[in-house]
Amino acid sequence: MCGIIGVTGVDDPLRMLLDGLALLEYRGYDSAGVALITADRPGDGSAPVDGAEAQSAIDRHHSIWRERAAVRAQSIPELERLAPTAPAARAGIGHTRWATHGPPTESNAHPHLDCTGRVAIVHNGIIENHREIAAKLDAAGHQRTSATDSEVVAHLIEDELETGATLLEAVRRCAGVLRGDFALAVVYAGEPDTLVATRRTSPLIVGRTDSVGVVSSDIAAVLGTTRDLYALEDGEIAQVRPGSITVIDAAGQAVEPLAIRVSWGVQAAQRDGYEDFMSKEIHEQPRALTDTLIGRILPEGTTELEELAFTEDELKAIDRVIVIACGSSYHAGAIGALALEAWARIPATAEIASEFRYRDPVLDERTLVVAISQSGETVDTYHGLREAKRCGAKTMVISNVVDSLMAREADGVLYTRAGPEVGVASTKCHLSQIILFQVFALHLGQLRGTLDPHEAAAIGTQISGLPGLVARALDRSDDYEAVADELAEVNDVFFLGRNIGYPIALEGALKLKELAYVRAEAYAAGEMKHGPISLIDRNAVAVVIATRGPLWEKLLANVEELRARGATVVAVADEGDEETARLVDMVLPVPAVDALLSPVVAVVPLQILAYSVARARGNDVDRPRNLAKVVTVE
Ligand code: AGP
Repeated sequence: MCGIIGVTGVDDPLRMLLDGLALLEYRGYDSAGVALITADRPGDGSAPVDGAEAQSAIDRHHSIWRERAAVRAQSIPELERLAPTAPAARAGIGHTRWATHGPPTESNAHPHLDCTGRVAIVHNGIIENHREIAAKLDAAGHQRTSATDSEVVAHLIEDELETGATLLEAVRRCAGVLRGDFALAVVYAGEPDTLVATRRTSPLIVGRTDSVGVVSSDIAAVLGTTRDLYALEDGEIAQVRPGSITVIDAAGQAVEPLAIRVSWGVQAAQRDGYEDFMSKEIHEQPRALTDTLIGRILPEGTTELEELAFTEDELKAIDRVIVIACGSSYHAGAIGALALEAWARIPATAEIASEFRYRDPVLDERTLVVAISQSGETVDTYHGLREAKRCGAKTMVISNVVDSLMAREADGVLYTRAGPEVGVASTKCHLSQIILFQVFALHLGQLRGTLDPHEAAAIGTQISGLPGLVARALDRSDDYEAVADELAEVNDVFFLGRNIGYPIALEGALKLKELAYVRAEAYAAGEMKHGPISLIDRNAVAVVIATRGPLWEKLLANVEELRARGATVVAVADEGDEETARLVDMVLPVPAVDALLSPVVAVVPLQILAYSVARARGNDVDRPRNLAKVVTVE
């Protein structure tokens, strides 16, 4: 997600903005920018008094100076290099961008300006109705200069200011037009010491000292300036001036802002108070899933994937799908392939990328090869994608990094919107990959007519409910941690599942391996009797994926085989499923959901199980030994 900062009432706002952006770097970004309200000539920089004379005097004194850089993780150092060219100023805003709409170029970097160049805005979130707003702005003669959703805000505010509205009122009116999530900070040369900020869903705080005012997307960036901080509620709009904060609600009524009690230091603030990024990202999953679905599943349950850039005929011409990926992304692909076959009735398989690229695959133009990669840079998957293109297949990427290596290589791209994932073990990106692939499978099913509109709408509605079910599973973290306490000393665990439960078992085993360094093997439960069951004795521990589905009873038969040989069995099971609970030693309860949708929920207890066992063993859960976040070597 992007980072926002604003400051007013200081002699060197650029210094404070750059220091604040550096404290937001941990959020990950691919471009950055700053905008200052400058005093062209000595001006008192005070708030405008009424009357055209005062306004024209201010207009003559103030303008906006903006610098942006799109050199990925070097963007802030690039802004530092440009700092000596900055004019005198006392207020400004800054932004670190994690691209969701539009590649990470300088023209797409924030702050964005209006046509007059006297309004600058920075935005975190996704504006769902940006296309329809942009069409109206273009028709009205506005000159947009970026491919972002955010820029429309600057032009909407420009129009409101032209009616004579104050910046506070202009932002209030603009927010009423926007749909989706946003945190906004705005400056205007006509009110040189004023910052205006507002939010809906995306976080935003404001703060002050006796002489300074600040705005930020998170506490870490401004904690060094003040602890006198306030959290804006959804829909509230704050006017921040040196030493003063005024807050109104969406109706324009004054409200008392909610004070924040901060007991953290800066480091803890970067983790939003969580012990580590791993637990923060596990708990960010409902938000990551919600953001990934925005604008793609419509209220009536149908899908909208125009960003995919394939024509309907091209998608209909596909007669086979091969998913290639590594690690957790491969597990997401295996889950997606099952959904594709079920809903789109198209042959679909998932393959380990490092195997695919060397097996001389037989592909043609009717084959779609889908590469799934959080980083978009994994070398095994990248070369698999290149091999697919060489063989004449159509290619598509599901990635979390806009304009990544693979995104630039593929014919079509779908981006998860999980925000940067700092923990090496993938959690929020993994679930976001699954849900986005489910949307793609639903989209293909509707296109191919293998799902009737009612079936499709029902599935779409269930997918829309998954973020809430993940939140409910997270509310059960104590139950999951209690099971982890029982397994803290275990060094050998089986993970078993059938059909959709098998890739869930694979992901659970991988998490326990990579975080807790426990030997954990996943098997298709039906495969146990073909050999592995010889390993089962009273020291064995097995985690089984026993959520209700077409093969639940067969899975229970496997549980009986394990129990008969003395194994300890832990079941991921539907909340309230007493029949399963009676058969096993411990339960990881999850909200019940359709089998094909269940991975998004059933993986959560396995993440927390692995995390808790790893913490109990004193492991570094954000940076597990021997692992890298992006594997760029073969
Ligand atoms: C997942 O927890 C691991 N860190 C790893 O398996 C990862 O999923 C794999 O390396 C693929 O990475 P990618 O999604 O960036 O391509």
